[in-house]
Amino acid sequence: MSAYLETARARLEKLRGREDILTLGIESSCDETACAVLRGSEVLSSVIASQIDIHKRFGGVVPEIASRNHVTAIDGVVRSALNEAGVTLKDIEVIGVTYGAGLLGALLVGVSYAKALAYSLGIPLMAVNHIKGHIAVNYVADSALEPPYVCLIASGGHTAVAYVKGWDELEILGSTQDDACGEAFDKAARVLGLSYPGGPAVEKLAVTGRPSVKLPRPFKGIDTLDFSFSGIKTALINYVHNAEARGEEINRADVACSFQELVTDIMADNAVRAAELKGCNKLVIAGGVGANKTLRDKVKQRAQRSGIDVYYPPIGLCTDNGVMIAAQAQCMIKAGRDCAEYDLDADASLTPED
Ligand code: KG4
Ligand code: ZN
Repeated sequence: MSAYLETARARLEKLRGREDILTLGIESSCDETACAVLRGSEVLSSVIASQIDIHKRFGGVVPEIASRNHVTAIDGVVRSALNEAGVTLKDIEVIGVTYGAGLLGALLVGVSYAKALAYSLGIPLMAVNHIKGHIAVNYVADSALEPPYVCLIASGGHTAVAYVKGWDELEILGSTQDDACGEAFDKAARVLGLSYPGGPAVEKLAVTGRPSVKLPRPFKGIDTLDFSFSGIKTALINYVHNAEARGEEINRADVACSFQELVTDIMADNAVRAAELKGCNKLVIAGGVGANKTLRDKVKQRAQRSGIDVYYPPIGLCTDNGVMIAAQAQCMIKAGRDCAEYDLDADASLTPED
């Protein structure tokens, strides 16, 4: 064991059981360089440097460009978060950093930075699973929320329903067999000529449309909590291309609305059914697609009929941020997890259960 790990572990043990830990959360898994300072569940600052405008012209995130921009942004983002929180590095008691899943080069920027910082300060570093961070941000939004509960994970890279058993433990009940829901929104947006990221653009366009375009519902007649979105995406592409080939004008708002209705229907159905099957009266929504109002409303409506309470974060905390990473670092401390050694590596293909 290194001298650093020995010191960090001793400090970590002293933090256990405390509800006011001053935590720094660092996130760099995709196209947002983000950092937040939390005192327990109180958010003292949250700074996000988004690269959306840089990647927009390519229609999606270009991994190498993302990594380079994280390198440029990270130090300023962390300093701003500290300044806004009115604290200095010496006050920070623990650092949480996303080590997976995500783009490898992008993850490595945050991991390297956080390791160097934790090592130089002699404080514990918690290696945070990004998806668990999306879930944990709900504890910040509602400090009364506690496991166990059923969670709908609806992000750009993952779609699943999970049973969250403890502060850092979950079991997948059903997951996507192909695309993630956010990916499907992004692809639908591209076909409709909307800009990246597609989810908010599709949602905005759908408001003025009607669900008049018939798209295929996957797993019809099959009893499953799994998801599949690639058939819907293909049907949508075919619909648009066939209309173009015939020289017919399509109603883009109707297409966006039909797509959103079907995708959110599937997600709301699976989420509520999973909670019913588990006999669980708490249902949590996590991830970027959780910002979608149609999805939130459908889950709420259907859950209400079964006496299930629904939790979701404010829209600004649905997509990637540093708050979620700091929140999950605190969950890991509650769960008795160990801190990372300075040989921590990024893991691009981490699963939600890891
Ligand atoms: O969870 P997230 O920030 O990234 C991952 O961890 O993967 O989610 C990003 C995804 C993108 O695909 C984006 O299009 C989608 O969330 N998204 C939305 C909305 N806001 C973001 N999808 C539907 N409706 C929204 N309002
Ligand atoms: Zn995310």
